[in-house]
Amino acid sequence: TERTLILVKPDGVERGMSGQILARIEAKGYTLVAVELRTASAELLAQHYEEHVGKPFYESLVEFMVSGPVLAVVAEGDRVIEGFRSLAGATDPTVAAPGTIRGDLGRQWPTKVIQNLVHGSDSPDSAAREIGIWFPSL
Ligand code: GTP
Ligand code: MG
Repeated sequence: TERTLILVKPDGVERGMSGQILARIEAKGYTLVAVELRTASAELLAQHYEEHVGKPFYESLVEFMVSGPVLAVVAEGDRVIEGFRSLAGATDPTVAAPGTIRGDLGRQWPTKVIQNLVHGSDSPDSAAREIGIWFPSL
């Protein structure tokens, strides 16, 4: 079994999608290990989005992620890292497949950064690193 770090981003919390998103995670059979509403600091996000520092969308990404509370979640289950990425769908909600969180619930906003409701760790290394950042006591 493995664990992954999931975030319901500020657009998801603000639009009242947190419950639906948690329900999809549970319906898939994953266990919720930690669920916490947090307002992230720019420092924490700089660690979280380390791989994107310097990219053209980086500043607006951090600005968006600190714009309101996020729901930080650790979920556990067999192949949950890959499984949640599959539940989330493609990064761009316009082309994310119907049936996925981003495909069903995501909208394409005319903003500088893609507002796509959720984040999910993309590998075992990322999951360990991100869980350490958001939930150092786990
Ligand atoms: P996360 O689960 O949030 O990490 O999304 P992802 O893994 O599907 O995408 P990625 O890690 O490549 O990018 C992180 C976030 O940056 C995305 O979710 C978007 O919000 C934003 N982003 C990524 N690529 C672009 C881009 O080309 N343009 C813009 N405007 N935003 C982007
Ligand atoms: Mg990513």
